[in-house]
Amino acid sequence: MKKTICLTAFSLLMIAGKVEAQNSKVGLPIYKNPKAPIEERVKDLLSKMTIEEKAGQLNQISGRFLTGPSTEDSSEKKKVQDLKKGKIGSFLNIIGAKKTEEMQKVAVEQTRLGIPLLFAFDVIHGFKTIFPIPLAEACSWDLKQAEKNASIAAREAAAAGLHWTFAPMCDITNDPRWGRIMEGVGEDPYYGSLISAARVRGFQGNLNDTAHILACIKHYAVYGAVEEGREYNLVDISRVMLWNKYLPPYKAAVDAGAATLMNSFNVFEGVPTSGSKYLVTDVLKNKWGFKGFLVSDWGAFGEMINHGYAADKKDATQKALNAGSMMDMESRIVINFLPELVKEGRVSMATVDAAVWPILYYKFKLGLFENPYKFSNEEREKKELFTDANIAEARKAGDASIVLLKNDNVVLPIRKNSKVALIGYYANKNADVLDRWPGQGDTAKVVNLYNGLTNKLGSSLVGFTDGYKDDGTTSDSLLQQALETANNADVILVNIGISGKLAGECQSLANPIIPDGQVQLIKALQKTGKPIVALVSAGRPLILTQINDLVSSILYCWHLGTETGNCIADVVVGDYNPSAKTVVSFPYSVGQIPVYYNHFNTGRPNTNHGDGGFTSRFRDIPNEPLYPFGFGLSYTTFKYDSLRISNQNITKKDKLHVKVNVSNTGKMDGEEVVQLYIWDKTASIIRPVKELKGFKKILLKAGETKEVEFTLTDKELSFYDADGNTRLEAGAFKVFVGANSRDVLEKDFTLQ
Ligand code: BGC
Repeated sequence: MKKTICLTAFSLLMIAGKVEAQNSKVGLPIYKNPKAPIEERVKDLLSKMTIEEKAGQLNQISGRFLTGPSTEDSSEKKKVQDLKKGKIGSFLNIIGAKKTEEMQKVAVEQTRLGIPLLFAFDVIHGFKTIFPIPLAEACSWDLKQAEKNASIAAREAAAAGLHWTFAPMCDITNDPRWGRIMEGVGEDPYYGSLISAARVRGFQGNLNDTAHILACIKHYAVYGAVEEGREYNLVDISRVMLWNKYLPPYKAAVDAGAATLMNSFNVFEGVPTSGSKYLVTDVLKNKWGFKGFLVSDWGAFGEMINHGYAADKKDATQKALNAGSMMDMESRIVINFLPELVKEGRVSMATVDAAVWPILYYKFKLGLFENPYKFSNEEREKKELFTDANIAEARKAGDASIVLLKNDNVVLPIRKNSKVALIGYYANKNADVLDRWPGQGDTAKVVNLYNGLTNKLGSSLVGFTDGYKDDGTTSDSLLQQALETANNADVILVNIGISGKLAGECQSLANPIIPDGQVQLIKALQKTGKPIVALVSAGRPLILTQINDLVSSILYCWHLGTETGNCIADVVVGDYNPSAKTVVSFPYSVGQIPVYYNHFNTGRPNTNHGDGGFTSRFRDIPNEPLYPFGFGLSYTTFKYDSLRISNQNITKKDKLHVKVNVSNTGKMDGEEVVQLYIWDKTASIIRPVKELKGFKKILLKAGETKEVEFTLTDKELSFYDADGNTRLEAGAFKVFVGANSRDVLEKDFTLQ
């Protein structure tokens, strides 16, 4: 209370322009002077800090609940004791205006220097209003909506006292076995870059209000390439791959101004990324000019010991700090060993200051020294969370994330007044709807599929039954009930897939397939002779091969958050015409993983798709995925023709204009994502057979034709060498335009 009065009086003096005079009179340090430039305030504060206090700023501790393995004494009492000693600079997992204010008060009023805390939380796809999982959201190809979703998530989180989210995840991956594929951007570096940047803009805005929060790029770097898709596993890739395939989204997020970045759990070239001077200092700081701060992933500094890279906790601390890493999330080693390491000259004070500097910088930038409680506002928390407006945006985002993979005989949208049966255990279980990163989403407030369809169809929904059990198996009686339910209907909707509980961290699956019991269910339902629509819920592209030919239509629904059921119902009845396209390939079988569109040609490509002789192919399955990257149908149809380019020979300074006509040949208005790919056919380092380099999402009225134009410049035509330098090389190129990465028109051109 006393402090607040002082601050208010101080602000008045400031307005009167008497700050300097007062400063010297009352001896107010520069760091407390809001008129001084932030850099000077940081410098002043650093000069007053002991090494123990600096180590405290590098120490991040989890609050009540854990999002990683538990460490030492995690009691609240111990945390408050440590906090008072200046030993904690940031908390994760302390949430809510009241709780954050309470802890902030201790930091501000009961520590020697009164440095405010940062409160962080995994706000991955919404805080209270839950949006589609990031992978689904990416399938909308709607960058503005993605930015808006992140900004709503930030606004809600900020109203609950939070300053910082651990998002966006910018990891490219080709592996549906990896549970975290749900959290990312899919398999393409170009699109992954655009959506990562959009998410950063949405979370952060200009960071000059109480509606935005710090973003955190994760997991730096290459976490999406874990072997076998097994969480925390080895990564082993070349630098050429690193630069061309994996780094671009992190780099785009840095360029978009992301304030923070997280070291990943994996190694790169045999070195844990937290200890990788190459990744952290050479690339991130020196080459890219990243000025923000880094935080380790949960316990990752300490895990350098398990990796076999550090001898003990002290050694791990030294290796992390000397590589340029900064904040220690839950290893609790920097706080214990840094002071000693500095005294022994094993870590320099300059290194420590460089690590603490950006953390203090952002505490000043957020205005926390002037008003440490500005984000912790119970009134705002009551008003801003789960509002009708936010829920409406979640519905829009969900509608736009559902991918129509198959629609034989135009079974969808279902005809008005048709009788509909819904079968599927998950359809009426809220606990299975949200994923493992549900923010503070309230399961009870989720609209599940059964509720969504009931809202929309009323009495046309003639029956509902489980059909299978929670583990995906079935039984004779469940199948019997399913048949009875289906017999009353004209169309059968079957909700299959896997629970949201299997989407997220540590949810690797060796067999990302449609569970056996669900396949049996669909086979049984086939006996009715009625059209079957599969509504697939999952946080990853499941292998659909077993059911693909058994059903008329497939809507890939992912996990859509708060409005799940309403969104699926919108699409099922045609209130929303699907416009999403998958940003990951759907493998044909497990043995094909990793399968991705931007693969390489090999010396013996299987171009004729036939017997192939001595070509690179499987003997038992096709090389191609079941559904390729960029694929997604609409309730209308589109035709592409007249692809033309402005020149067949261009110089390195020229721009190549590429035009195509796209027509809506169906009877419904619809949106189409027009995609442009290139192939650099003669390069000093081989390039993928297709690389996305542009897209446009356009609305076409029924019967309408639009000319769509793209421009290719040196930027799109270059690639990276192993040192991260861009190369633009003369040679033969192909340009492709089409509705997905497979169905394209093409032209050749030469770069001189
Ligand atoms: C995850 C991160 C997450 C962190 C904090 C880790 O286990 O890998 O993505 O941000 O926990 O919850």
